[in-house]
Amino acid sequence: MTARLLTETPQLTVDEHLAAHGPPPFADTGNGTGGRAGDSPLITAVERSGLTGRGGAGFPAGRKMRAVAEAGRRAGPFHSQVGTTVIANGAESEPTSGKDKLLLSRAPHLVLDGVVLAAEAVGATRAFVCVHDDPGRLDEAIVSRERAGLNRVPIQVVTVPPGYVAGQETALISLLNGAGPRPTFVPPRPAERGVRRHPTLVQNVETLANIALIARHGPDWFRAAGVAEAPGTALVTVTGTVARPGVYEVPLGTTLGAVLDRAGGSTETPQAVLAGGYFGGWLTLPAAGGLPLTDQALRAAGGAFGPGVLIVLPASACPLAETALVTGYLASQSAGQCGPCRNGLPALAEALGLLAFGWAGDDGLHWTQQLLGLVSGRGACHLPDGTAGLAHSALTTFADEVRRHLQNGPCDRIHRPPVVPVPESPAPDAAGQAKRGAPA
Ligand SMILES: Cc1cc2nc3c(=O)[nH]c(=O)nc-3n(C[C@H](O)[C@H](O)[C@H](O)COP(=O)(O)O)c2cc1C
Ligand code: SF4
Repeated sequence: MTARLLTETPQLTVDEHLAAHGPPPFADTGNGTGGRAGDSPLITAVERSGLTGRGGAGFPAGRKMRAVAEAGRRAGPFHSQVGTTVIANGAESEPTSGKDKLLLSRAPHLVLDGVVLAAEAVGATRAFVCVHDDPGRLDEAIVSRERAGLNRVPIQVVTVPPGYVAGQETALISLLNGAGPRPTFVPPRPAERGVRRHPTLVQNVETLANIALIARHGPDWFRAAGVAEAPGTALVTVTGTVARPGVYEVPLGTTLGAVLDRAGGSTETPQAVLAGGYFGGWLTLPAAGGLPLTDQALRAAGGAFGPGVLIVLPASACPLAETALVTGYLASQSAGQCGPCRNGLPALAEALGLLAFGWAGDDGLHWTQQLLGLVSGRGACHLPDGTAGLAHSALTTFADEVRRHLQNGPCDRIHRPPVVPVPESPAPDAAGQAKRGAPA
């Protein structure tokens, strides 16, 4: 199947982009054109396409766009002068994922077309592209589009301070509102009240690139790839012990084994795959190879699609040690404002560390399981849920390993360098100031 989002070309200039894709059509909205934003044909097309968000949660993109458009209409004429906002989430704070950086570096104009089209469709008056590091010389790309008349709403690039939770949608809104990138409790959801208390559409950059393609080619074209319950293609980052780690564009529903084969297959006897990244779950290999790559199927088996991450763990690695290291990193990323997260995640990381690297005893296992219950569902963002989900997945998928560790202490494999990439980065920048670009 021909790639839709990714090309082999290093970076398409605006002229190359227009030659490859043609000009972006108008979303035909109520944004100054006299129509009603909620009636946007683009929103209907995105709903029909079945496109789901590619940032991790997999929420239907058309439904979110409609909610924002309707919230903007309800807010009335005063609101429309101030403005609904679109945020393109290119933070990619998941350390195991590389797809958003690659997409922004190869096809920034496809993402920016999606930003403009989504903004028009929901009646937004401005847009922000949020990135940790700008992988696509976005400022230059925006200027070159200006000359080509493609920026039909003002677009500003905002640098997001480091940190795992900084890419969460309410953290981005908090940043754009002039505070640090700290998540806030919902409701109100961003669709109702976001930047400057106005309706805000937050979409992942890959989702927006797909919106740009759906605007051009329609929902049936989009559905021609993928499967009925998970249409389209997705960018998948494959890493761990595979011959050719990297980002692959694959039709959803492709089997997990076929995706690993595209990455050259495992270079060592495989043991498991971490499906969905840090908020995902472990699936044993080769059994999981036949699973279709859809969030539904992966979740039913104990994994997740998440932001499209597959990490192959060889038999020579200790899955408990790998999980403990990731959990330690996630605990270090707490924004520190919700008690169960601030206190519970370090305790969970310590308990898992003891299980993997020390002598936990039966009490240790019991305590770990108790902690899972104490942190789950107890934060403003899903950091505690995601961390507990990964830990739970390790305890159940590798129950035999847990028993062996409890009986015999740490295994020899803990001395192997970790397979799952874990940044050394310290706690997030609590002050959370954007280096540039926070709107006035
Ligand atoms: C702790 C945490 C970190 C997140 N980081 C990112 C991120 O870096 N990029 C992203 O697109 N979504 C991230 N998300 C998901 C966003 O909150 C949001 O759901 C997403 O940007 C919506 O876009 P989508 O519907 O197009 O996927 C994160 C969520 C959580 C809970
Ligand atoms: S759950 Fe944790 S990371 Fe999320 S907002 Fe609360 S303290 Fe911050």
